[in-house]
Amino acid sequence: MREELLALKERVIEQIKIAEQPSQLEEVRVKILGKKGELTAVLRGMGKLSKEERPVIGQLANEVRDEIESALKDKDIIITEKLNQIRIKKETVDVTAELGKSKTGYRHPLYTTVEELESLFRELGFMVVDGPEIETVNNNFTMLNFPEDHPSIGLSDTFYIDDNHLLRTHTSPVQIRYMLDNKPPIRMVSAGRTFRYDDVDDTHSPMFHQIEGLVVDKGVTMANLIETLNLFVKNLFGAEVETRFRPHHFPFTEPSAEVDVSCFECLGKGCEKCNFTGWSMELLGCGMVHPNVLRNCGIDPEVYSGFAFGMGIDRITMIKYGIDNIRLLYDNDKRFLEQF
Ligand code: PHE
Repeated sequence: MREELLALKERVIEQIKIAEQPSQLEEVRVKILGKKGELTAVLRGMGKLSKEERPVIGQLANEVRDEIESALKDKDIIITEKLNQIRIKKETVDVTAELGKSKTGYRHPLYTTVEELESLFRELGFMVVDGPEIETVNNNFTMLNFPEDHPSIGLSDTFYIDDNHLLRTHTSPVQIRYMLDNKPPIRMVSAGRTFRYDDVDDTHSPMFHQIEGLVVDKGVTMANLIETLNLFVKNLFGAEVETRFRPHHFPFTEPSAEVDVSCFECLGKGCEKCNFTGWSMELLGCGMVHPNVLRNCGIDPEVYSGFAFGMGIDRITMIKYGIDNIRLLYDNDKRFLEQF
């Protein structure tokens, strides 16, 4: 029986040695150590042994079982480790791999300017509101006190959709919408697209952008208008930049003015860039809200007064970024847009 046990051990150890899968080890364990296993059968047969032989063989059998068990355990660790290595190799991620840069978009310089303008006016206590690009003729012209024969109303200046609708020619109709919906005190700005029947050249485009401002309250004066716009201009372009208010005419403001800013190049001294005038550009139109406009919106001009202004955003963007051709803003050329 002793030989039988030793032979069994040798055979089993050999089988364990060549095993490559955990399932093969399990097979060996069941076949040898299991309830119906070979070693179990040997141990069961010990009853037939003599009194002297029994403890000797018993001890040997225990040793054989321990050795097989520890051989199984060791091999299990080796196989598991080996399989892990294979798996890790298969799943390896090359963290240095060049995947190509992901392309995120760029903010359009026009909208960077819009955001800057809105944020400057927010700081001054203005609400930022929205208005539609398709307007009624009524809001775009009539409510804004345009006389019936005003040249802008003609088909040569304005894109009409039907008799009552058009692509807004300025952001001023947002004034009307806001005054119809809100009671004074009012402080709002509204930026967006505007449309005019213009031929394209370096500084003109049939689609362009404006930002409108409106303040209505008790006791609002021209001084408030001038101070607010001066503050805005200095915040936008720098404290050294001066403004000039020139009388002008708009149907919806009285009095009205256009505002120029001093030349950024010579700061007002006069240079080639500004034709030696010291003034570089016409920045905006403004004025005190016409009493008829307030009345049209149900606001009593005897109690309330207000000022309004409107300016082109495209021109401001072009000056800020040194862009000399308005077409570049609308061509959608990636090479241009990627610069900002
Ligand atoms: N809507 C005028 C324009 O497009 C600008 C403006 C706005 C003037 C508000 C006065 C007050 O030229």
